[in-house]
Amino acid sequence: MKSFIPWIGGKSMLANKIISMFPDETDRYIEVFGGGGSVLFAKEKHALLEVYNDANGQLVNLFRCIKFHREELQREISGYVNAREVFEEIRERINMCGFTDIQRAAMFYVMIKISYGADGRTYGCNKKNISPDYLSDIEKRLKTGAGVVIEHKDFENLIKVYDRPKALFYCDPPYHRSENYYNIEFNDSDHERLNRCLKTIKGRFILSYNDDDYIRELYKDFDIISVSRQNNLSRGEYKELIIKNF
Ligand SMILES: C[S@@+](CC[C@H](N)C(=O)[O-])C[C@H]1O[C@@H](n2cnc3c(N)ncnc32)[C@H](O)[C@@H]1O
Repeated sequence: MKSFIPWIGGKSMLANKIISMFPDETDRYIEVFGGGGSVLFAKEKHALLEVYNDANGQLVNLFRCIKFHREELQREISGYVNAREVFEEIRERINMCGFTDIQRAAMFYVMIKISYGADGRTYGCNKKNISPDYLSDIEKRLKTGAGVVIEHKDFENLIKVYDRPKALFYCDPPYHRSENYYNIEFNDSDHERLNRCLKTIKGRFILSYNDDDYIRELYKDFDIISVSRQNNLSRGEYKELIIKNF
């Protein structure tokens, strides 16, 4: 299934390729930089224990509301229409206190859906349907088996907590020199922190990055595979890397 939300840097076009590289013996699957969860949703189940994580609190709140309060969230979203005034008003109100988690989740969902390229900053001027019918399938997916654990942590602590020999970490961090698309600060010291952390884990990792000399140098001791995908905005080809430790 596809994700319910467009997300900058989302991996919907590469999800099947990435999944085809997953090792067989995996008892826990951890999506460290979850975003819209394209890789998580692309398969019915990745492992007995599945974890979705992101440092963006609004996004994590939305995932939790879909899992635990889907009907109320759906009702709240249906009160919105796709219009510039609605977008501007949500932008002004979303960080104010006094809203419930469900109200904030609905605002965040609508804001991302109707913004330009899912940037959440500029109105998209399109006729995109914001109907949330699809959310019941997403709710089911998040509740399948033991259910997907939804975390809101910085990657380093998350990786430490879930690291085991049969763990698989899928890491899709902000790309090098494209970090400011997200509301969370991420800089070279974070790329290096991630590198140090992944070098010492007991489990396996698969890491996505843009094709960049700095990243190639950081991961020169690992298996680096070049892939390319269609670039949504320029319609050209965009080169990416898939890096793994197995
Ligand atoms: C490239 S996007 C992930 C896209 C996702 N794979 C998808 O398919 O939609 C990177 C994500 O990393 C999150 N992020 C940024 N800094 C983080 C941190 N220190 N720890 C965990 N997540 C972080 C951002 O909020 C963003 O959602």
